[in-house]
Amino acid sequence: MRRLYVFDTTLRDGEQSLGITLNVHEKLEIARQLVKLGVDVIEAGFPASSPGDLAAVRTLARELKGVIVCGLSRAVEHDIDCCAESLREAGYPRIHTGIAVSPVHMAQKLRLSPDQVVETAVAAVKHAKKYVGDVEFYAEDAFRSELPFLVRVLEQVIEAGATVVNIPDTVGYATPWEYAEMVTYVMKHVSNIDKAVLSIHCHNDLGMATANSVAGIMAGAGQVEGTINGIGERAGNTSLEEVIMAIYTQRNRHGISTGVQTREISATSRLVARITGVPVPAHKAIVGANAFMHASGIHQDGVLKERTTYEIINPEVVGVPKNRIVLSARSGRHAFRHRLEELGYHPEHDNLEALYQSFLQLADQKGEIFDQDLHALLGDSGSEE
Ligand code: KIV
Ligand code: ZN
Repeated sequence: MRRLYVFDTTLRDGEQSLGITLNVHEKLEIARQLVKLGVDVIEAGFPASSPGDLAAVRTLARELKGVIVCGLSRAVEHDIDCCAESLREAGYPRIHTGIAVSPVHMAQKLRLSPDQVVETAVAAVKHAKKYVGDVEFYAEDAFRSELPFLVRVLEQVIEAGATVVNIPDTVGYATPWEYAEMVTYVMKHVSNIDKAVLSIHCHNDLGMATANSVAGIMAGAGQVEGTINGIGERAGNTSLEEVIMAIYTQRNRHGISTGVQTREISATSRLVARITGVPVPAHKAIVGANAFMHASGIHQDGVLKERTTYEIINPEVVGVPKNRIVLSARSGRHAFRHRLEELGYHPEHDNLEALYQSFLQLADQKGEIFDQDLHALLGDSGSEE
């Protein structure tokens, strides 16, 4: 099995979502759950951005054990100094520094020539290396860069000591096959890539962050970055739980594994939703309320006969105790009888058909049918037979 490293940036890129600000206690509570989840790296914040974030990163660096704690910094000495200061007590500190490499970012945002960008990148990595051994370099907007230039930057920062190189699709512009092509290109043309881990970091502006990340992993990336529930700026980041489960469900076909305890996924998602105040859509893959619910008669019949007919993941594997058969006007006789039996009722065949017809009439008016509705239908106050 090839081991894929999981880099969680819920507390940094995720926190950049509109309307989210996490204080130190909130960050610590989420980070402790991320440790339980078994991610390899926790990006705790952007220490130079505010005194509060510096203090938060410092606390997480001191409190978290057995995980790499990372801080973000631009390729600016002051940022790197703040980052190093906040990571002083970390068992495994990592500085994540970098600069944009696409033509539009270099010319319009940075107002730097490509040569100046290379020089700044190398100086930043060398400066960070004075403090820590583990330095990750991000080539911001890598997907829209000119690939020979990207190769030149990556070769030079690896030469300067970068241990991980990150090639983000910062604006979520890639398609899966193009992103995989970029990973392949980098692995083929960066002459010293064997001295660093290649990391991928996708955004979801076109709804393809998970697909692009999985494509990048299949093409050989060694680390994937993302957030729990996919929170992040604009349309968000890659949803880590989706990538983790895509890798997990395909592990025998592709031979890739992570160190994640998948049974902690549901609890982690709920915690992040509660603390950030950003609800998880009901239909969201893996962690949405409907992810393991079956509503239509055909599906319910299939699942009751054999779970895998309509479930590719056993809900217990992600920490959801069991799937749910929702009774509605779309439910068939099989699901109806099954729920009655679970409640302790065993009606005769003829009676069952009459009850089913009454159930359908009620469901047409009411939508979802709950257990108390069934008790009422059976003329029972709730006590089981
Ligand atoms: O999306 C991005 O390019 C980033 C970098 C700062 C790593 O978040
Ligand atoms: Zn990002």
